[in-house]
Amino acid sequence: MNHPKILIKGFSKFSREQRVEFLNQWLNENVQPELDAFLHSNAEYQQAFAGFSENYLSNFYLPMGVVPNVLVNGDWYVVPMVVEESSVVAAASRMARFWAENGGFKTEVLGTEKKGQVHFTWKGDGYYLRSIFPAIAKQMRKDTEELTRGMKSRGGGIKKIELKDYTQQLPAYYHVDVSFETADAMGANFINSCLERMAETLDAKLNAHPEKGSCEVLMSILSNYTPQSKVKCTLECPVEALEKISGNYKPKHFAERFRMAVEIANHDVSRAVTHNKGIYNGIDGVVLATGNDWRAIEAAGHAFAARNGSYRSLTEVKISKGIFRYSLTIPMAVGTVGGLTKNHPLAQFSLKMLQNPSAGRLMEIMAAMGMANNFSAITSLITTGIQSGHMKMHLPNILNQLGATERQKQLAMEYFADKKVSFSAVKKYIDGKV
Ligand code: MEV
Repeated sequence: MNHPKILIKGFSKFSREQRVEFLNQWLNENVQPELDAFLHSNAEYQQAFAGFSENYLSNFYLPMGVVPNVLVNGDWYVVPMVVEESSVVAAASRMARFWAENGGFKTEVLGTEKKGQVHFTWKGDGYYLRSIFPAIAKQMRKDTEELTRGMKSRGGGIKKIELKDYTQQLPAYYHVDVSFETADAMGANFINSCLERMAETLDAKLNAHPEKGSCEVLMSILSNYTPQSKVKCTLECPVEALEKISGNYKPKHFAERFRMAVEIANHDVSRAVTHNKGIYNGIDGVVLATGNDWRAIEAAGHAFAARNGSYRSLTEVKISKGIFRYSLTIPMAVGTVGGLTKNHPLAQFSLKMLQNPSAGRLMEIMAAMGMANNFSAITSLITTGIQSGHMKMHLPNILNQLGATERQKQLAMEYFADKKVSFSAVKKYIDGKV
């Protein structure tokens, strides 16, 4: 490696050409063709992609797939998913169809409120702080009017401003908890701008009387934990209707095995994380396709899964009087306007495919896809096992990795149609050792 062995200053000011040249030297080879191969031929798109990230080099492609037959609250959807795990779209499609034939996904938005915080220390009279705070909150609303005007006209804005005293946990530490409605926007920039403005008000008001104490604002930032912005998705059918997917098990036995699988995820963190990961397989694909923030959505969901002190399944199952009922309750903050949803041409296309949903509707569709994937995963796990389907979907990737020719690929697909796929089995086949 050809690292200059000195700190590189001003790297972000390099042009793309300079960054590529830097990498040529760093790797001691010309990497320009590899990077250029994925630039977009449409100059306008290319410019948009380059604008999404600092130190931009090239575009990183992921496949975009589509899941038909998604029936949510009686409305049909064709759902876009961007995901690299080959079996995810297949699993979602299989279960979307199954549930479309069995009543569909029933969803309900349980709230869309988001929160932000101004964290600060107050070294002074706590009674004074509490007594003056309502006046400060009023002033905060006034000082943010310019920022909230547009949001208010769309039905959003600041809902609540509260002072929280954490001095028992951390000396002198308080924060201001602010609740927001952000209409169809995810609202991160709106929330953070309001909070920073509110922090200025707080600082000015509290430090106006030094004899009462001193305030130091530490930080102002939205919270990605969104338990007040939540969606519930329920699946329900007679146990007998599960026969179509229950494999070698009688539907009643299948339902019991399913219940046990979910219970295990309620008692064992190792299983719970994997169980919930299967839910996010479905959700993240739609989050990415619509240009939303999957890190925020995942972080909120995992914290929510641990809200009672131990990390558990995000789903619940009940079997009663011959009815199988499976539900998912999940927090999420999504937008259908603003940010990448607007700037990424394919995010715009995804929203068009979804008939330009409101943020609430998008939450419902995402929850449905999370359920579809998790239901599919549990069904496979307790019947055939996950690997047969998963590895079949992965076969083309293995063949590509092994550098198989088109003819070899075709023959291998036929050969493995009724056989177990594994990397070693495929390698043996390609090497002519079977
Ligand atoms: C794989 O991406 C997801 C699963 O592991 C989920 C699960 O185990 O429930 C199959």
